[in-house]
Amino acid sequence: MNNKFFINIPVMKEISYPIQIKAGLLSNISWIPKEYKKIVIITDNLVKKMYGIQLKQLLQKKSYEVMIFSFAAGEKSKNIHTFTKIINSMLKCHCGRDTLILALGGGVVGDMSGFISAVYMRGIPYVQIPTTLLAMVDSSVGGKTAIDMIQGKNLIGAFWQPKSVIIDTSCLETLPKKHLINGLIEALKMFLIYDKVNFYFLQKNTEDILNFNKNKLQKIIYQALIIKTSIVSQDEKDNHIRMILNFGHTIGHALEKVSQYKILHGYAVAYGILIEAKISEILKILPKKQFFIIQSIIQRLGFNGGDLKKLNIKEIIKNSKIDKKVHSGKVNYVLIKNIGEVYIDANNHYVHPVLDNIVEKAFYEVCGV
Ligand SMILES: NC(=O)c1ccc[n+]([C@@H]2O[C@H](COP(=O)([O-])OP(=O)(O)OC[C@H]3O[C@@H](n4cnc5c(N)ncnc54)[C@H](O)[C@@H]3O)[C@@H](O)[C@H]2O)c1
Repeated sequence: MNNKFFINIPVMKEISYPIQIKAGLLSNISWIPKEYKKIVIITDNLVKKMYGIQLKQLLQKKSYEVMIFSFAAGEKSKNIHTFTKIINSMLKCHCGRDTLILALGGGVVGDMSGFISAVYMRGIPYVQIPTTLLAMVDSSVGGKTAIDMIQGKNLIGAFWQPKSVIIDTSCLETLPKKHLINGLIEALKMFLIYDKVNFYFLQKNTEDILNFNKNKLQKIIYQALIIKTSIVSQDEKDNHIRMILNFGHTIGHALEKVSQYKILHGYAVAYGILIEAKISEILKILPKKQFFIIQSIIQRLGFNGGDLKKLNIKEIIKNSKIDKKVHSGKVNYVLIKNIGEVYIDANNHYVHPVLDNIVEKAFYEVCGV
């Protein structure tokens, strides 16, 4: 894959950081900021074997002092125990504020490493090196960092922007298809809320993209990041427009929790998109025809409302009430007005309370019961 893009986007007025998208970036480390000599690679056990050891050796050859700390792959590790263990290891190795963290892996590694960077000695720099499609199109950009608690997902965290984001698209060559789909769902969400043209590009090219067509995948990553950076630069701290990135996530997060994180994040969001689009249709915000277009692409990506029948909607609704978007006991939803456009009410609100019985109705209609 050729180097097609170098994006330098001011994510906030004061902070600007580069996002590089190119195949092969991991084997040429000219992107490492020159001022750091001590480097900590944080990764998971699978990515460590695939890319971590090699990166460590490459850095050592260039005379960097490098440590690598890893944890068991998967959402179950995104917790306070992993966090404490890595912090302790860094303290033992006398890592000071002159240390640079490299977050090498998927969204779990990115969220964990970002949070450690945000609080270690009151904040040290880090570079996001996403290796899953989900992390490339979404979680590596925007500075949201977090870990999960028993009570729910991402309940402890901080806003902490990386120094740069390095996307080596050749990492996608080892990514299993289920994780490709996992990331495509977040890209689909981005297009549904903001970009009709690229929604239809994804719709038209679904098969090629599912077959790892490199150029089309690169276009999807680039276009999704254009949306993400545009939204984050308007609202870094999630006070207004950034909340629209949570379309599909009120239900999605609750589903992940109810499944004890056995359902992948993107998969839970796919069902969340279906149910939240259905809620929008029931409330007469989204035309029926548009709902069917959304349902059809979600089905082509392999998600069928019928799969939800096994789940207990009351349990999902109960768990949605621990979401960060809950205000005064009301669960808030991002609703969609059209493909590429969210619903904003007369008071300029981006999220809207929805009654439990409407959520239940949407769930049963999507399940076909
Ligand atoms: N901070 C944000 O803005 C944001 C946004 C969306 C999602 N998230 C978070 O992201 C997380 C999900 O991220 P994820 O789906 O990347 O999960 P993940 O980090 O668990 O990665 C999925 C699996 O893929 C493996 N893997 C990673 N790169 C690989 C590669 N190149 N080849 C083969 N295998 C590879 C990992 O070892 C892991 O087993 C969730 O915790 C979610 O909350 C955060």
